[in-house]
Amino acid sequence: MNKKAIITSALPYANGEIHLGHVASTYLPADVTTRFLKQNGVEAYYVCASDDFGTPILIQSEKQGKTPSDYVAHWNKRDFEDFSAFNIGFDYFYKTSSPENIEFVQDVFKKLNDSGHIYEQEIIQFYCKNDKKFLPDRYVKGICPYCKAEDQYSDLCESCGRVPEEITDPKCSLCGAPPTKEKTTHYFFKLKNFADSLSKWLEENEHLQKDVKKYVQNWIKSGLIDWDITRDISWGVPVPLDDAKGKVFYGWFDNHLAYISTALKFLNDKGIDGKEFWNSADIYHFIGKDIVYHHYLFLPAMRLGIDSEYKLPDYIPTRGHLTLESKKISKSRNWYIGLKEFLEYYPADYLRYYLISINPYSQDDLNFDWDDFTTRINSELIGNLGNFVNRALGFTKKAFDGKIPEIEPFDEKDTEAEQKIKSLSDDVGQLMEQNHIDRALKKIMEFSSFYNQYFQHKEPWKKGPGTANCVFLSVNAVRTIAISLSSFLPESAQKIWNQLGLDGKISDYAWNEMSELGIPSGYDLGEAYPLFARVEVSDVAKYKKQLGPSEK
Ligand code: 2FM
Ligand code: ZN
Repeated sequence: MNKKAIITSALPYANGEIHLGHVASTYLPADVTTRFLKQNGVEAYYVCASDDFGTPILIQSEKQGKTPSDYVAHWNKRDFEDFSAFNIGFDYFYKTSSPENIEFVQDVFKKLNDSGHIYEQEIIQFYCKNDKKFLPDRYVKGICPYCKAEDQYSDLCESCGRVPEEITDPKCSLCGAPPTKEKTTHYFFKLKNFADSLSKWLEENEHLQKDVKKYVQNWIKSGLIDWDITRDISWGVPVPLDDAKGKVFYGWFDNHLAYISTALKFLNDKGIDGKEFWNSADIYHFIGKDIVYHHYLFLPAMRLGIDSEYKLPDYIPTRGHLTLESKKISKSRNWYIGLKEFLEYYPADYLRYYLISINPYSQDDLNFDWDDFTTRINSELIGNLGNFVNRALGFTKKAFDGKIPEIEPFDEKDTEAEQKIKSLSDDVGQLMEQNHIDRALKKIMEFSSFYNQYFQHKEPWKKGPGTANCVFLSVNAVRTIAISLSSFLPESAQKIWNQLGLDGKISDYAWNEMSELGIPSGYDLGEAYPLFARVEVSDVAKYKKQLGPSEK
C-alpha cells in the first residue's frame, strides 16, 4: 500500500443544499476510504471545494439580487456545515473561486496554449439585445426538439434528459425576449490530440473499473470532439489573454483543477511540498457516473497536456445514482431529502450504515427506500450489532461488576471465536482495498452475528463452566468491532470505545490492532448503555408523506 494518498470527491456546486443523492455516491464512500487509509498508517488527505462558477449559479444569484460571490459564499458555508454534521471528515474544504485556483487555472491554460493544444474559433451564439449579453447554456429556454417539453434549458432537457442541438422557440431566460444570433470567438481545447495517450493511459491503469474503461475506450474509438472551454459571461476564471477581454472559462475547465490547487494550498500551508506529495501519492477521485466523460477524458487530457506535471489519477471510483423510493431524485419536484433535514430525524450513523450497506462498487443505481431503511436499522444495526455490544457489556456489568474475569483453557468454540478476532482485519481490509465498502461492512456484521450466536450457545447467564471465557472473548470482540467500525460509523465506534472504558480517540488506533485480545482479565469496563434507538414505523410514514409536489 502506498503510504501517501490524496482523496477528492466531485465538487458540489455552490448552488443549493446537499441531499442524500450527493452523499451516497461520492462523499460517503470517499470518507470511509480516507478513514480506512488513515487507520492503516497512510498519510491520507481528503480535500474538497465548492464548485463556484458557471451559468446556473450566475443566474440564481441574479434572481436573488445577490452578487455571485456572496451567493456562493453562502452555499460554501452551508454545504460544509452539512457535510460536517454527517461526519464527512474533509481535511480541507475550499472553493474553486479561490485566488489560488484562479491563478492555477490561468497558468495551466497558458501552458496548454504554449504547447499548441488551444485554438480560437468563431461560433454563433444566442444574444439578448435587451440584456446586452450572450446567452450560453441555461440563459436560453425553449421547447425540447425531441420530446416537445416546454420551458427547457438550451443545454439540457430535464424531461427527456437529452442535450438538444438547437432548442425550438428560444427565449432569453432573463427577460423572455427571443434572442438573436451573433458571432463570438471562443477558445477550444484540442481533445482530439489526446486520443492515443488517453487510450494508453486507460489500458495501463489497472485500478480503474473495467466496465467504465470499456465504454470510455469506445468513445475514443468513435472519435473525440474538441472542447469549447470559454464563455462570454461575467462570472468565472478570466481567460488570461489580451484579446480575450470579458471571456471566462467554462466551469468544467476550471473545477477539476481545484482538486490540485486545493491540495497544494492545504499541503503547502502545512509546510509539506504539495507538488512533491501529489506526485508521490495515490490519487483518488470519487465520482458519480454522470461525470465519467469529464473525469476520464477532459481531466486526464488536460494533465497530459501539461506533460503530467501533476500525475493522473490512480483510482476514479465511479458509482451509480441514488434513487428515492425507486424514483429519480428531483429538487424541482420535491422528490429529495436534504442531508440537514435527514439528520434532524436520525443520527448520522443510521444514514451512513444504510447508504454503505446498499452501495456496490459499480455503476448500478442504488435505492433509498424508507421501509428497507427501517428494517435494516432495526434488525441489522440494532438487532444484530447493537444487541451484541449491549449484551456482552451489559452482562459483564451485571454479573461481574464490569470486571473481566480470569480465563480458563479455551474449548473448541472459544478457539473458533478467538480465530474470528484474529482474522477480521484481513477479511475486511482486503475488501476495502478493492473498494467494496458494502461487503466490508457486511463482514463486520457477520462477525457480530457469529458472536451473538456464540454468546447464546455459551449461555453465560447460567454461570456454568466456560462463562469466564465467553465474557473475556465477547468483550474483546466488542473492542474488535469498535476498531473495525470506526471508518464506517465513527460516532458509534467512539461510543463503544467509551463504554469499554478505553482511552482516547478510536480513530487513533491502527487497523491491525483489532486482531489483538487487547482487554485483559482484571480490566474494568466503563458505563454500558444501549447504543441505538429503534426506527418507528409511524415516524417513517410521516417522513414518506413529505415527499412529492404538494407537501413541502
Ligand atoms: O457535477 C457536478 O456536480 C460538478 N460540480 C462536479 C465537479 S467535479 C470537478 F470538479 F471535477
Ligand atoms: Zn433577455
